[in-house]
Amino acid sequence: MNLAVLISGGGSNLQAFIDAIARGELDANISLVLSNRAEAYGLQRARQANIDTRCIDHRAYDNRENFDRAMLDALRAYPLDLVLLAGFMRILSPLFVRAYLGRLMNIHPSLLPKYPGLHTHQRALEAADREAGASVHFVTEELDGGPVIVQARTPILETDNADTLAARVLEQEHRIYPLAVRWFCEGRLRLEGGSALLDGKPIRLSAG
Ligand code: GAR
Repeated sequence: MNLAVLISGGGSNLQAFIDAIARGELDANISLVLSNRAEAYGLQRARQANIDTRCIDHRAYDNRENFDRAMLDALRAYPLDLVLLAGFMRILSPLFVRAYLGRLMNIHPSLLPKYPGLHTHQRALEAADREAGASVHFVTEELDGGPVIVQARTPILETDNADTLAARVLEQEHRIYPLAVRWFCEGRLRLEGGSALLDGKPIRLSAG
């Protein structure tokens, strides 16, 4: 399975894929790491792992579709099975989503459907939630709205602020994102009729 990983920043989730592949836990090859920011530390992680990198700066394009077309051109140079958004902080146009529908995943730092969008941890704290978490989901045209594949939960502690909570959730992200990718690579996971299916059955998330 050939993967591409789209990043905008630190790339710790990218590192989790690199490490899972190195440990033999994920039978896949990362063909390309693409960033919209030249200074993203994740690009260095990719270079260290001898992975092809590209930077396409969204500010060089006058609208979202043209930026997305440039990314699609870069991605189409590789025979990809799966495109992974890993801290990629641009909203994708329907044009892009349709090109990889069913082969496009994201990780979002909240227990979706709660808190799509930004500042998820701050919002969970302000709502006095008792737990926070992260969700891996298939990407559809609705922002952070595609079917969830797997979630991880962590209790919110009285001493937490957005940074401590984000750090704890991030550790969980590094566990569940490679797991979801592994399921996909093993042919166990697919998007069908708007649902995520694992071993042919719709994925049900545990309540509460
Ligand atoms: C992660 O927490 C990821 O869930 C979040 O950005 C962080 C990236 O960390 N993604 C989003 O907020 C997407 N809207 P990383 O660069 O170290 O993988």
